[in-house]
Amino acid sequence: AATARYEAETSPAVCTGAIESEWSGYSGSGFCNATNATGAYVQFTASAPAAGTATLRIRFANGTTTARPATLTVNGTAAGSPSFEGTGAWSTWSTKTLTVSLAAGSNTIRLTPTTSGGLPNIDYLEV
Ligand code: GCU
Repeated sequence: AATARYEAETSPAVCTGAIESEWSGYSGSGFCNATNATGAYVQFTASAPAAGTATLRIRFANGTTTARPATLTVNGTAAGSPSFEGTGAWSTWSTKTLTVSLAAGSNTIRLTPTTSGGLPNIDYLEV
């Protein structure tokens, strides 16, 4: 199936923090700067044509030199532990690729940080 891109700044995505555009290089109209706390998250709603394995691509920037680890959940179930390394600058974006199982139809995909450093800035999810 064709790749679908879900922008973090576009509903139905949820960003518990601020939609910002102060750092260049993002896709769409901005990115999610989730609050730097373990309770913050960015959530996407992505559709899959059929149940099965899918590749997720998460575009992010981390202008610090400290990796920001997170838990990925799909439909409420833990589905990965990506760690978002420093990208060198907030305006330098990188892509993290993850393999998950999706249900047919709508899927809720959420990234939650596991440390108080929070998430990196998140640009979009591609499925
Ligand atoms: C800076 C930067 C933000 C980033 C934040 C962070 O404030 O401007 O874009 O989200 O650091 O540490 O998460």
